[in-house]
Order: sequence, then C-alpha cells, then structure tokens
Amino acid sequence: MSSTTGSLSLVYSTQEIAHNIEELATKINALYQGKNVAVICVLKGAFMFFADCVKHFTFSPTIDFIRITSYGSSSTRNNDILLTKDIEISIQNKHVLIFEDIVDTGHSAQFLLEYFRNRGALDVKIATLLNKTNRREIDVTIHFSCFTLEDGFLVGYGLDYAEKYRELPCIYSMNEDIKNTR
Ligand code: IMP
Ligand code: MG
Repeated sequence: MSSTTGSLSLVYSTQEIAHNIEELATKINALYQGKNVAVICVLKGAFMFFADCVKHFTFSPTIDFIRITSYGSSSTRNNDILLTKDIEISIQNKHVLIFEDIVDTGHSAQFLLEYFRNRGALDVKIATLLNKTNRREIDVTIHFSCFTLEDGFLVGYGLDYAEKYRELPCIYSMNEDIKNTR
C-alpha cells in the first residue's frame, strides 16, 4: 500500500505472501495427514499460489489442473461458467482440495464444489489466495484463505487484468486510471 510501481500499488509483499502460505500449509497438513487427497489448481490465476503451497505439504497428494471461465461481459456478468479444461485423474473416494486465486461473488467456487462433489469425491474443500468479501452473492464456505479483504481489483502473483501482470512476484491493487485507459 505504501510503495507503487507505475499505477499499481503494492498490497501484499513476497514476504507476507510466503508467510501466510506457510501458515496455510500448516493447517492443510494437519487436516489431510494420512488421507487419500487430490489437490486441484484452478488455472490460470492460482498457479503461483498452488506451486508455492504444495512445496510445504507433509502428505503426498495427487495433483491436477482444471480451467473454468465465466462468460458474458464483465459489466453484465451473468455467472454462466464454462469448463475449458478438465482434470485427468480420478477423484473417486478422494478428499479434494481446490486451489482458487480469488473468491469474489462466489459463483466459481460454488460451481467447482458442486462439480467435484458430483464426481464422487469423499469431500471437497476450497483454499483461496484471496477472499474478497464485499461482492459475495453466494454464501459459499471458504475452508482456507491466505488473505481476506473487502474490495479492490488486484493483480500480480498469478492474478491478471486482461492477461497481464501474472508474472509479478507481489500482489498489487490496480488504480482505476489504468483500467480506463486500456
Ligand atoms: P467469482 O467468485 O465467481 O466472482 O469469481 C472469481 C474469479 O474472478 C477469480 O477466480 C478471478 O479469476 C476473477 N477475479 C475476481 N476479482 C479479481 C481481481 O481483483 N483480480 C483479478 N481477477 C479477479
Ligand atoms: Mg479465476
């Protein structure tokens, strides 16, 4: 929040991210020790969070990737969600932990929870890097989150705006002026 890069304002530093991920992994380790677990990364936004978190696991899960997109323009978002890349492993009788970048309205999280429940998982939980609370429309249970905030549009550390900024190692908030001039 104090330092800026162009029109991006730093919100969470690499140190804060690493610290909170380690804390999160400790809780995840405690819950899943000795269980048959599949951890699923939701592409693309969760890729850095996922990679950094799994390094701390003291259990040995199977790992896979899924991709969903919501269609309708962002201004008239109609919450229709399309699966564009499916997982390639069986999750029958497994404990599934989904890794999301952001839970905002809650529609994507709800879709994913139902999707995996319907495919025979023993139980399904969500870990999210960011839990954004102000625009929530679905009262979805977020089992694990690294950071909770009310609002703002964030980029970096996997999160994009129009496919940009995913490579940045920290999380920034985007000022309205950049969005409006693009
Ligand atoms: P929702 O919870 O279904 O509204 O959707 C959450 C998804 O919207 C996230 O997985 C992101 O892909 C995207 N999203 C929401 N807020 C932001 C943000 O601040 N920055 C980047 N992407 C966002
Ligand atoms: Mg997403």
